[in-house]
Amino acid sequence: MKTYTLAVIRGDGIGPEIVDEAVSVLDRAGALFGFRTAVLPCLLGGCAIDETGAPLPPETVDICKRADAVLLGAVGGGKWDALPGHLRPEAGLLALRAQLGLYANLRPAKIFAPLANASPLRREVIGGLDIMVVRELTGGIYFGERGRREGQHGPEAYDTECYSVMEVERIARVAFESARLRGRHVTSIDKANVLESSRLWREVVHEVAKDYPDVTVVDMLVDNAAMQLIRNPAQFDVVVTSNMFGDILSDEASQITGSIGLLPSASLSGNKLGMYEPIHGSAPDIAGTGKANPIATILSAAMMLRYSFGLEAEANAIESAVDRVLLASHRTADILGESKQKPLTTAEMTEKILQEM
Ligand code: IPM
Ligand code: MG
Repeated sequence: MKTYTLAVIRGDGIGPEIVDEAVSVLDRAGALFGFRTAVLPCLLGGCAIDETGAPLPPETVDICKRADAVLLGAVGGGKWDALPGHLRPEAGLLALRAQLGLYANLRPAKIFAPLANASPLRREVIGGLDIMVVRELTGGIYFGERGRREGQHGPEAYDTECYSVMEVERIARVAFESARLRGRHVTSIDKANVLESSRLWREVVHEVAKDYPDVTVVDMLVDNAAMQLIRNPAQFDVVVTSNMFGDILSDEASQITGSIGLLPSASLSGNKLGMYEPIHGSAPDIAGTGKANPIATILSAAMMLRYSFGLEAEANAIESAVDRVLLASHRTADILGESKQKPLTTAEMTEKILQEM
């Protein structure tokens, strides 16, 4: 029987609770379909700072590199907010993305039909919203030169946005390939009316587009995109954009679905090693209360099966079990809406999903 080794980063806040649930779903999928997963636990973020003094212990990088895939809960929390930038939990996450070469971040934002009324937008506006945000994850202003210096008017600080042709080309390819499996339409988002890096971005995207004549592509300026996402989100299929614009727009897109507790993500490198995590954060305020929604992490595990291991039927089995559980009106507290029913706990929700599988 094939065994996949998983580096498992439970992380901070609700991270440990939701990751354990996702691991039990993977175990069940393995039992049903005939594969095994071996878990290699490792530290990242606040818990790593507490135990080792650093947000990304070198051992974690080694374990992740040896693993077939990485499953991550969430990192961060108010407890570590006072630390200097490079020692914060988030710095560990950014360094891990860079060291594993995870340049392509896939963030699907779709409406789960039974929860459509949780969207802050009117039903007729959201339509069948189903967007794949493809965010460049290891370049741009997140990783450009930064610092403080003495300027003309006293002390100043700077961050730099820089993109190479190679970086834009490889993320554009991910977007076009992804579009081929979906609606065959790519919206490339930039700020080419102002930024030189965006003008290069646009040129390269259109070069790559020539290899995908079956996929349509349009450019959109980021300010307009922020507006269009609210005005007419159904016009989007695949969205490809830079690290920072993708950070902002993926939060916006996820909020339109009204159910951020349900949305997974995948961060991929050129060589199949992928890291899978929910879009939401570590929610320290509800940690340990059993209120956390495990679905985003469970769906991230499904993405792992699909993208890292090519286990399409196995991924579908998890996703359709989640769909059926939602259709049967099982709800954790975050997706209760107006309903007066008693919310399920983290463990109860997982149990429903396991039963459906
Ligand atoms: C995300 C987060 C991170 C980012 C933070 C925690 C550094 O907001 O994954 O979207 O900005 O990339
Ligand atoms: Mg973000």
